[in-house]
Amino acid sequence: MAELNIRNVHMHFSGVVALDGVTFDVKEGEIFSLIGPNGSGKSTLFNCINGFNRPQKGTIKFNNVNLLKKRPHQVITNGIARTFQNIQNVPFMTILDNILLGAHKRINFQSTVKGWINREQRQKEEAMGLEILDFLGIANYEQKYMAGQPFGIQKLTEIARALVAKPKLILLDEPAAGMNEQETVEIAKIISEIREDLGITVLVVEHDMNLVMSISDRICVLDSGKILAIGQPEEVKNHPDVIKAFLGDSADA
Ligand SMILES: Nc1ncnc2c1ncn2[C@@H]1O[C@H](COP(=O)(O)OP(=O)(O)OP(=O)(O)O)[C@@H](O)[C@H]1O
Ligand SMILES: [Mg+2]
Repeated sequence: MAELNIRNVHMHFSGVVALDGVTFDVKEGEIFSLIGPNGSGKSTLFNCINGFNRPQKGTIKFNNVNLLKKRPHQVITNGIARTFQNIQNVPFMTILDNILLGAHKRINFQSTVKGWINREQRQKEEAMGLEILDFLGIANYEQKYMAGQPFGIQKLTEIARALVAKPKLILLDEPAAGMNEQETVEIAKIISEIREDLGITVLVVEHDMNLVMSISDRICVLDSGKILAIGQPEEVKNHPDVIKAFLGDSADA
């Protein structure tokens, strides 16, 4: 089972406790959302999963492989790709080339050193990149340069780059941030299709509650690095601690 197991993860930066004993599992095929106020540790947890941060305590396993022994590119090879809260596209490259940066796990070291992958491999990668653009509904953008593209296209390029790595699990850090209502509906549909049509498990951080409630199988609420509640959308929405944390004392009235 390609399950993600997070156990008792503690991560602090000098005096700042970002994660304080986080434990949960993401099951194969789930859409699992991580929500919580600004600074509650959501992106830090993503950074622990993909190898950017090393937690001081705890374990993170995917498919029984200990991720805390892996570097970020090895985490991708083990089937986990991610997007970033702050868009990480290269403005002077085309959208297709930006996406193919995500294919580097299949580009062998020798050919990379020689300058570029062989033509046959390049054609295969391009065909896959185009398929993914098509899947995301932006196939006609392949040769356009990244610079100056609308925000929505930039966000979809981030998702496409992660998909090109052919992950079993995708981590999406605020995919709908900065998007308008129509674009948010579109993103919700895409996330569902990533699971339904591509068979990829999804772990998503998002602030848009309509989106989270509509797509998630389960939701975990983080607050100051601790889990406040975890469960199905209805359970979490009605959980007294969640209501209190999000609505403050007015919830007691
Ligand atoms: N590299 C770092 N160095 C120092 N402090 C950090 C670092 N990364 C995160 N933090 C701190 O850890 C805490 C959690 O930050 P994190 O970015 O994980 O929150 P978040 O839940 O993703 O918030 P947001 O919703 O604003 O994206 C914050 O107090 C943040 O300032
Ligand atoms: Mg964040």
